[in-house]
Amino acid sequence: MALLELDGLTRRFGGIIAVDRVTMRVAAGEVRAVIGPNGAGKSTLFNLITGVVPVTDGSVRFDDERLTGLSPYGICQRGISRTFQITALFPEMTARENARLAAQARHARRWQPYGGGTVFGDAGRRGDAALERLGLTHVASRQAGLLSHGDQRLLEVAMALAQQPRLLLLDEPTQGLSVEETAQAVETLAGLLSDGAMTVLLVEHDMEVVFRLAHMITVLHRGAVIADGSPDEVKADHEVQQAYLGGLA
Ligand SMILES: Nc1ncnc2c1ncn2[C@@H]1O[C@H](COP(=O)(O)OP(=O)(O)OP(=O)(O)O)[C@@H](O)[C@H]1O
Ligand SMILES: [Mg+2]
Repeated sequence: MALLELDGLTRRFGGIIAVDRVTMRVAAGEVRAVIGPNGAGKSTLFNLITGVVPVTDGSVRFDDERLTGLSPYGICQRGISRTFQITALFPEMTARENARLAAQARHARRWQPYGGGTVFGDAGRRGDAALERLGLTHVASRQAGLLSHGDQRLLEVAMALAQQPRLLLLDEPTQGLSVEETAQAVETLAGLLSDGAMTVLLVEHDMEVVFRLAHMITVLHRGAVIADGSPDEVKADHEVQQAYLGGLA
């Protein structure tokens, strides 16, 4: 059984079918890239999985439990964390405070009146551990908004990681980065994913990044899956070449 199972997942916005009967399996330990041109439905797919946008039709199952209809908080509690395509951190707070807050947001006892001290300490430790895994310990006490773009994107990954997710969704972690920053971020992410302990869905436009990080690739075109397989299979797929890869493959 796969950790994440999408069946016939569909989302309409008025007359637009943003996500069109997507069926997908993500096995535990897999790093799967979701690729496709602008407007293909990649971010909407993440919004459906995380409950940010309600499903029009079809289902999301995680660890054999139906998530469809749960709140974003309920879904985060079950172990799915994400980053956003657009930077989403608290710029005035330090990197460490951002990571701690993210950890706290998932903590089961965060609303209990007398658990505050324990929750705070636990969350701080998880946040610090996540910063360390992303190589950000040396900037932990700096204001997040003053970090380099590359470190800001990695901080967002650290924030998701601080929630100790069983499934991590990364929406274009290298968006807006320079070539050098991208190369650095990708090496850090490759290190993070190298032990095979993480299950990841990754949206990414940069095909070099995709081929470096992903074991499996799903190609979306106008909301629908047009190919699904290993990087070599996807590269060789005629329809994918026509729709998306152009001269690259
Ligand atoms: N909240 C919304 N309301 C109306 N239409 C939306 C909404 N969110 C997405 N869409 C539409 O759904 C389609 C898919 O958008 P989505 O953002 O999922 O694409 P994407 O693959 O992430 O694109 P990009 O590569 O540009 O990030 C687009 O036509 C978009 O305009
Ligand atoms: Mg998007």
